[in-house]
Amino acid sequence: MAYNNILVTGGAGFIGANFIRHLFGKAGFKGRVVNFDKLTYAGNPANLEDIDKAFGGATGRYVFAQGDICDYACIEGVFSKYEIDAVCHFAAESHVDRSICGPKDFVETNIVGTFTLLEAARKFWKDRQDRRFHHVSTDEVYGSLGAEGLFYETTPYDPRSPYSASKASSDHLVRAYYHTYHLPVTISNCSNNYGPYQFPEKMIPVMILNALERKPLPVYGKGENIRDWLYVEDHCSAVWAIMAKGVVGETYNIGGECERRNIDVVHGLCDIMDELDPLRSSASMKSHHELISFVKDRPGHDLRYAINCDKIKKELGWRQSVDFEAGLRSTVEWYLRNMSWINNIRTGDYLHWMQKNYSSR
Ligand code: NAD
Ligand code: TYD
Repeated sequence: MAYNNILVTGGAGFIGANFIRHLFGKAGFKGRVVNFDKLTYAGNPANLEDIDKAFGGATGRYVFAQGDICDYACIEGVFSKYEIDAVCHFAAESHVDRSICGPKDFVETNIVGTFTLLEAARKFWKDRQDRRFHHVSTDEVYGSLGAEGLFYETTPYDPRSPYSASKASSDHLVRAYYHTYHLPVTISNCSNNYGPYQFPEKMIPVMILNALERKPLPVYGKGENIRDWLYVEDHCSAVWAIMAKGVVGETYNIGGECERRNIDVVHGLCDIMDELDPLRSSASMKSHHELISFVKDRPGHDLRYAINCDKIKKELGWRQSVDFEAGLRSTVEWYLRNMSWINNIRTGDYLHWMQKNYSSR
């Protein structure tokens, strides 16, 4: 499928920014990308400064529009001004811990926002089937696994946090628009991403930044929870494969096939930090491993996520390209090279929230 004008919602966030970079890079997309983002605490236009320089301005191939996906009039204006023929919907409140502290924004953005976008697409595209609404979702909608088993596209939904419940709700709405109005949708449910530009509230960047400052590394509970990890660039190539070749109405699981216990990920990060940012031999602390600190567990903490992604591999020929240990190392290297990005972020809402929520742990 060839598109001319793709609306990327949440393009100033972690995965959205990597996706826009992927579109102009490896994907070889030749049309225009409109990045629609509210710029919440998680949105950072600096994530795409280079793209804006290269493709923004007079070339008109990259446009940033600030707005809220809950604001129908604003979205309508963007659809009509830029003749949008595809949507890749990343915009969301995305952090489980924040959803526990304050679920309201999750209901508004993830449910009402997705509904509002669906309505705009339905109005503008009418019955046209050469359009695409791709909805980016999470494997957390499937719930929590025990020691055995995997999530399949057919696994019944069983969300357990306000975040995953709001994402599950948005997935159901997207599917309902396909069945009821024949809106040409696709959905992807992906496992945990890591890589450049991830906001330092998710586990991997929290650990890297704390290690850099020799602060405790807060491992929830016993660190035995398991996540499946995927390098963000591989998520982006999967989403693009679905937009380009995926079958309308279908859902595709995306994953790293790389299960790790949290504590093992943190030890891995400490090994890398010991090598790339060694502690002074005179210091009382000899290794970053000594910073590991077991803290109060997250309420309702899902034990294990593990994904079966045979469908996208077999049907669309997608593969992961970055192995976890190599990806972790290049992620640490990216944060070490981008201290000014980190320093810009470590102000305002971020500090306030972290102080409020971590001081009690
Ligand atoms: P993020 O929090 O880094 O970025 C979210 C972006 O959405 C930000 O730029 C923010 O400003 C924007 N946004 C938030 N509310 C908005 C609103 N009302 N209107 C317009 N823009 C708004 O999130 P992320 O980690 O990049 O995740 C992107 C998407 O991928 C989400 O839908 C998430 O559920 C999904 N996902 C994430 C992961 C992961 O590991 N991070 C895994 C699977 C799926
Ligand atoms: P996170 O990155 O928040 O992603 P998700 O909750 O969507 O899986 O957390 C990944 C895992 O790491 C999860 O089991 C919770 C745990 N975790 C910690 O142990 N310490 C932390 O500081 C954070 C943020 C998460």
